[in-house]
Order: sequence, then C-alpha cells, then structure tokens
Amino acid sequence: MERIALFPGSFDPFTLGHLAVAERGLDIFDRLVVGIGVNASKQGLLAPERRAELVRRVFADEPRVEVVLYEGLTGDLCREKGIRHILRGLRNSADFEYERDMEMANDLVFPELSTVAIFTPAAFIPVSSRLVREIITMGGDPAVFLPEGINIKEYL
Ligand code: PNS
Repeated sequence: MERIALFPGSFDPFTLGHLAVAERGLDIFDRLVVGIGVNASKQGLLAPERRAELVRRVFADEPRVEVVLYEGLTGDLCREKGIRHILRGLRNSADFEYERDMEMANDLVFPELSTVAIFTPAAFIPVSSRLVREIITMGGDPAVFLPEGINIKEYL
C-alpha cells in the first residue's frame, strides 16, 4: 500500500528548513501532500495562493509531492484525503512542546492519525519563516534561507 503523509504548515514562506524536512519525509513516505493551512483570522505576509505557488515551484520536478490549501482542522483534511500520517519537523525543545500538544489534540479528535516528527538537520536549525518575514519587512534579502532559485519578491 502507498504510504502518504500530510506535511502541514503555514509555510509563510516555505524555507530551506521545510525543504530539508520534506526531503527526509520523502525517504520514508511514497508521497507527500504539502498542506498550506489557511487561518482566516490570521493574516500572513504572503497570500496563501502565493505560498502554494512557491512550494509548487520548489517541487516542480518531484511528482511525489502535491500542494493543497486548506481551511479548518488538519485532521479533517487527512480524513477527507484518507491520509493517516502527519509529518512535522523538530528543531528544538520549543518545537517539541508545541508538536506534542498538537499531537495530543489531534490524537483525541482523530485517533486514526499518527504524527511522524523528524529532526531538522542541524544546519537549518536557525532557519524559520518568522525570521524570513522579519528580514523581508526590514528590507533585507532572505535568499540564504530559501530554496535555491526562489526570488521572494515574485511572491509578495
Ligand atoms: O508550521 P506552523 O505554522 O506552526 O503550522 C501550523 C498548522 C497549520 C499545522 C496548525 O496551526 C494547524 O494544524 N492548524 C489547523 C488547526 C488544527 O487542526 N489544530 C489541531 C487541533 S485538533
């Protein structure tokens, strides 16, 4: 049977750290669905459609990756798509605590789901979407934190 995981996140924007986790996920799973969670009450920096375009561009040559936008619960999306695994990356203990809480909530609401957490490779531990947004809003160039060939100005 095909092993599929949902890789959910805000991806505002998708960074080199996310890419490293996705690549490790592709070693474990046959396919990944990158789910861009849209929270109507939380305005991000990149419009959700632009975030999706960026991720599609990154995986343009990887047919095992699909990108979807979703609203509502991550578990509901998994149920709709018949997905039983969630992939998340862990950089540090703060990520661990957050992921543990989320996994516990998901487990109560969607017991059929399991979360597979992968350690972010050490080189990418300082990378975060929040940092990239900060660099952008202060007029800097965040290219060093983004997948190769991504010019963030095309997505703003
Ligand atoms: O990488 P992020 O930005 O921390 O991703 C957050 C995301 C989208 C994965 C998270 O906020 C989420 O799952 N939101 C949907 C709401 C939900 O399912 N919460 C779990 C409670 S059962």
